[in-house]
Amino acid sequence: MSKNKQREHWGSKIGFILAAAGSAVGLGNIWKFPYIAGENGGAAFILVYLICIAIIGLPVLIAEVLMGRTTQRNPVGAFRKLSNSPFWASVGGLGVLAGFVILSFYAVVAGWSFGYIVEAFKGSFSNFSKVGASGDYFTSLTGNIYWIVGYLAVFIALTMSIVYFGVQKGIERASKIMMPLLIVILLILMVRGLTLPGSGKGLEFLLKPDWSHITGQAVLIALGHAFFTLSLGMGAMMTYGSYMSKEDNIPSAALQIVFLDTIIALIAGIAIFTAVFATAENPAVGPGLIFHTLPVVFSKMAGGYIFGILFFILLTIAALTSAISLLEVVIAYFVDERGWKRHNAVITFGFITFLVGIPSALSFNVMSDFKIFGLNFFDFVDFLASNILLPLGGLLISIFVAWIWGFDKALANLKSGAENLFERNFWIVSTWKVFIKYFAPVLIFIVLLNSIGIL
Ligand code: PHE
Repeated sequence: MSKNKQREHWGSKIGFILAAAGSAVGLGNIWKFPYIAGENGGAAFILVYLICIAIIGLPVLIAEVLMGRTTQRNPVGAFRKLSNSPFWASVGGLGVLAGFVILSFYAVVAGWSFGYIVEAFKGSFSNFSKVGASGDYFTSLTGNIYWIVGYLAVFIALTMSIVYFGVQKGIERASKIMMPLLIVILLILMVRGLTLPGSGKGLEFLLKPDWSHITGQAVLIALGHAFFTLSLGMGAMMTYGSYMSKEDNIPSAALQIVFLDTIIALIAGIAIFTAVFATAENPAVGPGLIFHTLPVVFSKMAGGYIFGILFFILLTIAALTSAISLLEVVIAYFVDERGWKRHNAVITFGFITFLVGIPSALSFNVMSDFKIFGLNFFDFVDFLASNILLPLGGLLISIFVAWIWGFDKALANLKSGAENLFERNFWIVSTWKVFIKYFAPVLIFIVLLNSIGIL
């Protein structure tokens, strides 16, 4: 079987870092982080979020990449190889399932973003004077099943066309082109935002700490987001780690990924809020900020035509580099464990993801009254994946690495490629031990209880 075939590897260290950062940087950074930070106390929330990233995000990221690199397998194969237990293999299976489910609704929103590039080119945003008008426009676009299903198909096809070419020629090459482009566009948008008259108020909104907002709920939001934004809990980072070689330094790579993810979320927040405040729009609209408010902001802003196009290109690129990591988890499983050919797996499972995405797309129109536990289909799969499957996966991964595989064995593998760190700064490694053994499982467990309404 293909298990014995030579496994593909990243062509370079920076290739892995850009691909993994590409997975991390997505709709979570550009769309979600700015509004949750804005709603939950600005700088105070950002501080709590940074703490969550440091004590949970980074340790779990290291654990996932390490499992992948050690076993050179997809999530199911990785758990199986390290434990020989069907239970733990099924935890990997949960990750593959989560990849599938997340991609199906993620691609719907990413499809809107792609559709908005086209709208921006057509100049559709030039005549919005109020959020109401652009909100109505959004509702009419997403209410059109051809528009919404069509762009879902386009986005999934784009994702498939990258994963189809494999690790080096597909994912790595695409990330090496798209990530620098993303950073350049983001910097242009930030400079544009900062140079608008009145932008200071936006900075203040995002960066002035308001401690009264730091409630238990805000801490849980920060923790949950730390997971989603770093693509943790479903094996995406494990799968990417499985294409790494033993000479690579995992702690240092993980640190760079976390740094890029965090700084990009912050810059996106600055770019968005400076522009929103400079055009006197309401910042506290939550999820609608990007598709309702920003088009109005662009229509009022000098050069808004170009900046609108750039913004939605940015959002689409960010989503695309995340989507390929979601699809790759599924593909790696079928290739490693089931002996499928990559090309066949990509075509088959890309198409199935599209089919599974259709009810999510229809939740905004013909299926809007169809409810599961009081949520429409889109909200339900989003909740299931982001609030249940990812934290559950993260909890089990940290327990597995610290207690089942065993911390000492994990450590021995982590050392490869990071000998310097082990010799000179062993305290960092000891800190990882405490976090992965105790902090991460307990804190993630609390998030999970909160998600299912027990806390
Ligand atoms: N990290 C991505 C984002 O912030 C989402 C994602 C989650 C991607 C899980 C892969 C796996 O948008």
